Amino acid sequence: MFNKKLAIVGASGAVGRVFLELLDEKYPGKKDLHLVASKRSAGNKMSCGDEEFVIQDIENFNFSNIDIAFFSAGAKTAEKYAPLAVSSGCTVIDNSSHFRTHEDKLLIVPEVNSKDLCNFESPGIISNPNCSTAQLVVALKPIHDLFLIKRVDVASYQSVSGTGKEGIDELIEQTKKFLNDEDIHPKVYGAQIAFNVIPAGNILENNYTDEEIKMSFETNKILDKDIKLSATCSRVPVLYGHSLAVHVETEKEINLDLLIQKIKDQKGLDFFDSQDFTSPNAVNHAEGKNPVSVGRVRLDLWDKNRVNFWVVADNLRKGAALNSLQILDELL
Ligand code: A2P
Repeated sequence: MFNKKLAIVGASGAVGRVFLELLDEKYPGKKDLHLVASKRSAGNKMSCGDEEFVIQDIENFNFSNIDIAFFSAGAKTAEKYAPLAVSSGCTVIDNSSHFRTHEDKLLIVPEVNSKDLCNFESPGIISNPNCSTAQLVVALKPIHDLFLIKRVDVASYQSVSGTGKEGIDELIEQTKKFLNDEDIHPKVYGAQIAFNVIPAGNILENNYTDEEIKMSFETNKILDKDIKLSATCSRVPVLYGHSLAVHVETEKEINLDLLIQKIKDQKGLDFFDSQDFTSPNAVNHAEGKNPVSVGRVRLDLWDKNRVNFWVVADNLRKGAALNSLQILDELL
């Protein structure tokens, strides 16, 4: 039996469901596991493998019986309850944006900066990055290791599950309405998402979205503070899996064969050499898969210090639950 006492806060959500799948895949058999959410879903039952668990209301939940709590219940819940959990002796791995910008909190993608965990004092809070940043930094690492990245430009094509259950429901509902020729009234996003492409995140005063700023800040915190990154993040009518078009400028001239070999050797990355134009894509190579998939790697047409590529990953796995479980592995 897996001998740590675990809690999943936000168990009833889109990421929570994937946590349960992954926990059963990684640690089959009986577990000392506690499912937590708001009072809206308290009392409901969810399964992890053959075991059934009753969801508990966070307001009455006692974190002092827990070793590690995975939080995936939004920034406000993390802000309020993660410090309480820590003061009860429980370590928190938080998927929300709340603690990522705190200088004294670690932001970890194990394939890239697990060495930062040497500075971790238990019990404490460790942040998981934004879903698109997690897959991006794994894909950037081989390039940075070999040729030193100066600048990155990214365009993202992010699925609705990045917004959680309500994003998934919104796309399905709007798609049905569209096909039945009924009126669509957007609730979750500022504009219709079915059969459309819209900005991902909230637009800030500088005209960037918060998703774009997160990607820039988090890449600096995880990979290298000197990398200059600008992003344009979009939400697309895809259920699961984020795709990124990435353009990188390096300090040193790029040797493509060397780079491809390094990508193939990189833990957590799958390289696609295929001439098949469908590969890699969100539906076939991201959804339900653990590795980050990189393809269409090509040198810039004009500049030997630039390379362009495409990267997809399951935003609920590598972008959230899987990365958190990998952090747990590192801690153990
Ligand atoms: P609940 O289902 O009870 O609302 P998603 O990201 O898919 O929207 O899921 C969010 C998760 O966070 C759900 O499990 C949700 O529980 C949980 N959650 C949201 N707000 C709170 C809160 N204030 N306290 C505890 N859990 C919360």
